[in-house]
Amino acid sequence: MSAGRPAGAGEPLNVPVVLASTFHAATGSLVTGPGNGSGSGGAGREYARDDATPGWEALEQVLGELEGGAAVSFSSGMAAIAAVLDLLPTGAHVVAPTDCYTGVRALLNDGRRQGRWSVELVDVTDTLAGVAAAARADLLWLESPTNPLLQVADLPALCAAGRAGGALVGVDNTFATPLLQQPLALGADVVVHSATKFIGGHSDLLLGAAVAADPDLAGRLRRRRELAGATPGALETYLALRGMRTMAVRLERGQRGAGELARRLAEHPAVGRVCYPGLSSDPGHARAAAQMSGFGAILAFELPDAAAADAVCATVGVIRSATSLGGVESTIERRAKLPGQEHVPPGLLRLSIGCEHVEDLWDDLAAALASAFQVCGVPTRVVDPAASAAART
Ligand SMILES: Cc1ncc(COP(=O)(O)O)c(C=O)c1O
Repeated sequence: MSAGRPAGAGEPLNVPVVLASTFHAATGSLVTGPGNGSGSGGAGREYARDDATPGWEALEQVLGELEGGAAVSFSSGMAAIAAVLDLLPTGAHVVAPTDCYTGVRALLNDGRRQGRWSVELVDVTDTLAGVAAAARADLLWLESPTNPLLQVADLPALCAAGRAGGALVGVDNTFATPLLQQPLALGADVVVHSATKFIGGHSDLLLGAAVAADPDLAGRLRRRRELAGATPGALETYLALRGMRTMAVRLERGQRGAGELARRLAEHPAVGRVCYPGLSSDPGHARAAAQMSGFGAILAFELPDAAAADAVCATVGVIRSATSLGGVESTIERRAKLPGQEHVPPGLLRLSIGCEHVEDLWDDLAAALASAFQVCGVPTRVVDPAASAAART
C-alpha cells in the first residue's frame, strides 16, 4: 500500500469499506486478543476492535506520513485525547492552556474531581509562565492555535521545557492540520486531531487520531483504543481518508478567505478585536509565521456583547450558524454560550471558513453585521452589492 492506496495490479484505487466486526480465524493459536496492543491487521486479523479494518490502516498510514509518526485512529477527537490522558498514573499533574477546546477542559475537570490528576491552566501566550509550569508537569497539553481565541503557543520552547522536565507533551493540531504544522518535529511526543474537522472536511463524520513519534507510545495508545472500545467505524475512516486527499485544496481556499475576511473585519467599525494569526497586528503572528506554513482557515472576532453576536448568528445565511469547524461550508458560533468558556468574551464569534466565494461570505457577514447593529445604533459601512458583484468576476 502506498499513500493509503492498494498498489497491486487489479486492486481498487481506494481501500474498500470493509463492514466486518469479525474475520475468519487463522488456523492454530490466536495471534491477537483483547488488549494486546498488537493492532496486527492483515492475516492475523480476527476482531475489528483489536485488529483494525483495512480502512484504518490506510488512514493511519497517510496521517502518520503527514505528521511524521505512527498514527492511531479513534472514534472521535475526544476519544484520542482521553486515550492520552489514560496513560497518566493516578495523581499526575496536567498543565493545559486556559484557552483550549471546551471538551478538553471538561474532561480535565472531571478527572480532577475524581482524583485522577491535578490541573494547572496556563496562558500559552506567556512563554515564560508556560516554561515554568511545564517543568512541574507530568503531562503538558498544548493546543495551537487555540480554540476559540486563536492564541499561538511557542511550541518549540514549550515542548522542550516539558520534555526536559520529563513530561509527556501532547499537542492538539486540529486547527493547524498536519499540512500547516507538524508538532512532532517541533518537539511534541504526541499529536492529536479531531479528524471530524479539516481532515474529514465535510461535516459528515466523527473521527479522531493520535500520532506518536515513538512506536512504543503508539502501541500504548492502540491498547487504550482496544480496551476502551474507542474504535473508528469503517465508513468514517473511508470518508476521512477521502477527505484528507482534498485537504490541501480545501485548506488553501479557506485560508485565503479567512485572511481576507480578517483584514476586512479588522477595519469594520462595529468590530473590536479580530483574532487571526495571519494579521501582522495579531500577537501570535510572529510565532505562527515561525512554526506554521500558513495561518489556517479559522478566525474569531469580537462584537460588543452577546446580543449583537447572537443577532449576527441569527441573520447569516451563506455562513451557517452551527457548531464545529473545518468543513467545506463556513460556520459561525458564539463560543461563550458554552459551559467552561467563561474566559471567552461574550461577544466573540468564531468563524470557520470553507470553500464558498469570499465575496459571498463577506456580503453575508457585512449584511448580518449591519442588520445587527441597526438595532444597536452602532455605525456600519454599507455593503455595495454592485462592487461585490464586480469583485466576484
Ligand atoms: C481543537 C479541538 N480538539 C478536539 C475536539 C474534539 O473532537 P471531536 O468532536 O472529534 O471529539 C474539537 C472539537 O470541536 C476541537 O475543536
